[in-house]
Amino acid sequence: MANQIRIGALISGGGTNLQAIIDSCESGAIDGRMVFVGTDNPRAKGLARAEACQIPSFIVDYGAIIRQFRDDPDPRALPRDFDIEEISTRQTLVSKDADQEKINRFLQTRAIAEAALIREMERRPFDLLVLAGFMRNLTPYFIDRVNTTPGSPRIMNIHPALLPAFPGVDGYGDTFRYGCKVGGCTVHFIDYGEDSGPIIGQAAFDILEDDTLDSVKKKGLALEWKLYPECIQKFAENRLKTVKMTYTLDNGRIYERTVVKVVENRLL
Ligand code: GAR
Repeated sequence: MANQIRIGALISGGGTNLQAIIDSCESGAIDGRMVFVGTDNPRAKGLARAEACQIPSFIVDYGAIIRQFRDDPDPRALPRDFDIEEISTRQTLVSKDADQEKINRFLQTRAIAEAALIREMERRPFDLLVLAGFMRNLTPYFIDRVNTTPGSPRIMNIHPALLPAFPGVDGYGDTFRYGCKVGGCTVHFIDYGEDSGPIIGQAAFDILEDDTLDSVKKKGLALEWKLYPECIQKFAENRLKTVKMTYTLDNGRIYERTVVKVVENRLL
């Protein structure tokens, strides 16, 4: 179909969300097709899902890249268009109070890995990049090379918690251990922060007395498989509009935030 969007995915693990998206493309619930699956993890089980559906895949082994640069920090390994000063001022992933050496090493190794991702992705043009259990934070080096049209973000993520609660690597675990009565998942566009970008959709479930971490994860994942395709379809229908909102608080302070509006009719 001519008006199908081209979707690229990055994964790190089992890829059940990837599968839900592929299935939704197949069934027509998403007007789109998956054009590549990339991973940072050579052992990602989700790679077999891509293969079974004949979707091209690639691996950028972050672990190996990080070890290699730690053992031999050769500046020639860095991408030629990488400017550490510029990325340092924009990044918000590592505290600016942290040791500069540590910040530099993080940004340098990620830029090497992210440049490799971009090289692979450039071979397969895409409209939307979905992070489907991709467990690496992406830095401004990568984000700015994918989000090239101001005001039109095109990197989506799914997070296993009701953001802004419980960002990080263990959303369901953090929700369960905190003793929450409600858990959930969030689909959002990424920005420079960790799980902090504008929210597209959320779904929630009750956490009951007899729930365990395992049952919480099961409930959450079942919601993710529904929510993610729905949000992607809204993108495919061009119904997601990011707008800067300004709110004046009672104390006179002005609070600004970019939010996603879901419009009824397809935007021209
Ligand atoms: C999902 O629960 C997803 O929300 C989470 O990883 C799991 C991947 O499962 N993502 C994150 O925690 C990202 N910070 P899957 O590989 O079976 O789709």
